[in-house]
Amino acid sequence: MAMNEKRVAIVTGGSRGIGAAIVKRLAKDGLHVVAVARNADKLAEVVAAVVAAGGSAEVAVCDIADPKAFGDLIDGLADKHGRLDVLVNNAGITKDDLVLRMTDEAFDTVIATNLKSAFVATRAAARPMMRLKGAIGGRIINISSVSGVVGNAGQANYAASKAGLIGLSKSVAKELAKKNITCNVVAPGFIATDMTQVLPDQIKDTVKGLIPLQRFGQAEEIAGVVSFLASADASYVTGQVICVDGGMVM
Ligand code: NAI
Repeated sequence: MAMNEKRVAIVTGGSRGIGAAIVKRLAKDGLHVVAVARNADKLAEVVAAVVAAGGSAEVAVCDIADPKAFGDLIDGLADKHGRLDVLVNNAGITKDDLVLRMTDEAFDTVIATNLKSAFVATRAAARPMMRLKGAIGGRIINISSVSGVVGNAGQANYAASKAGLIGLSKSVAKELAKKNITCNVVAPGFIATDMTQVLPDQIKDTVKGLIPLQRFGQAEEIAGVVSFLASADASYVTGQVICVDGGMVM
């Protein structure tokens, strides 16, 4: 098949929240965006909104915690489009508990979904990214969390997965720089999405008191930083962790 003329991006967790905002933003920036998640109906809604706005996007239903299925998906997409320019590992889950009570299952599932999936995707994406001919090389952007930077009581599994993403990203940045592939991390603070909506009001108020900008962030404010990292303007930025958190961690 002929090579897609647009730069091609894969965004995991594209069905809602931060991932949906990233899908919409990268499509607005002129990329063809593949939105990956488990929920086909919600994904289709996001892609329909992109197309209605004049953008280009497609749906890919996959459980990213299944390494074979996810690796094969990325191989297939790179073949289908003849290129792969941007990978955004955004999908993530929480299974919070105190460490004394945390089950093996809660630990392993969070690591498999949040961390191992990013390794599997990076391994599959590296080769097609190495073959890119344009001035803008490959871009890998991993969505971590301030929990991975400073830790968080009740989130040993989640914080370990998010800190792991930072070590993974810095290693990948060092390995792939000579191939004109950059790898950076965006670490959101508290962003208003389904993931944080479930927090009790009292916790939300306490958290706001810890944020210099005194509010939760919007998904679009994460998407804007991802857009920058995916753009030509970020060509000399690699191995960095950018906290987008209203100043909570500094
Ligand atoms: P969300 O819960 O609203 O959406 C998560 C997305 O990941 C959904 O599209 C879901 O379908 C997908 N997903 C989950 N497990 C999957 C699997 N096994 N296979 C395929 N897709 C899967 O989450 P939200 O709030 O949009 O967060 C996105 C990312 O940002 C996550 O990695 C999260 O850890 C991170 N983050 C979010 C913060 C927040 O305050 N909302 C703060 C810091 C980090």
